[in-house]
Amino acid sequence: MADEIVEQQTALRQRIEATITGMFAPEDEGLRHSLQAAKEHGLPEIQINPIQGKLLQLFAKACQARQILEIGSLAGYSGIWLARALPADGHMITLELNPKHAEVVRASFAQAGVAERTEVLVGPAMQHLPELVERGPFDLIFIDADKASYPAYLEWAIKLSRSGSIIIADNCVRCFPALWAQEDRQGEIDADTQGLLKYNQLTKDHPELTSLLLANDEDYTDGFNVSVVK
Ligand code: DHB
Ligand code: MG
Repeated sequence: MADEIVEQQTALRQRIEATITGMFAPEDEGLRHSLQAAKEHGLPEIQINPIQGKLLQLFAKACQARQILEIGSLAGYSGIWLARALPADGHMITLELNPKHAEVVRASFAQAGVAERTEVLVGPAMQHLPELVERGPFDLIFIDADKASYPAYLEWAIKLSRSGSIIIADNCVRCFPALWAQEDRQGEIDADTQGLLKYNQLTKDHPELTSLLLANDEDYTDGFNVSVVK
């Protein structure tokens, strides 16, 4: 009986998600191409979902973003959503560690028609961030890279922002089960999870931020940490 209820709830959730996606966040050829390219090049299929992509666009519009910074490009899927929220004279910089991935991203941006307003910088994000001070401030910053470095990325995101900028970090909900297990004296917390937990703690009470965690993935087990800079 319990299994049946879980199955029904899962089916309902999936149908709601598919309906919202179809109504408000349908993928076009450019977005579908970037997913296909990611698969062909063996990149991990861990991108955000279309509803999250549309939410990023909404945040970009809400802060009238003309300058966007993304930390962690992966295959360029989230970057396409973000770049499409920019006005014609807007610009997005995305930071990617892996040079091969960066090539896939550039090709996907070209396919999606956002090559002109985007720039892919290759190498460790921590090396690029100090150089970006003179290119800021950024109106929206999306963090979706190595989780252990999230607290350091937050520090830079605040430095590179202005009052009213929006800082979003992916995957900030998934860290809680590890914390609960540790509280029950079961298991260690790895560096990635520690980075996420710290990020949430820092944003929660930060004097320069108003923040909220949104459990907004497919099954409520992961999601965005969203902060607005005061
Ligand atoms: C992983 C990273 C992500 O950014 C994500 O959205 C999902 C999974 C990972 O490293 O496993
Ligand atoms: Mg992610």
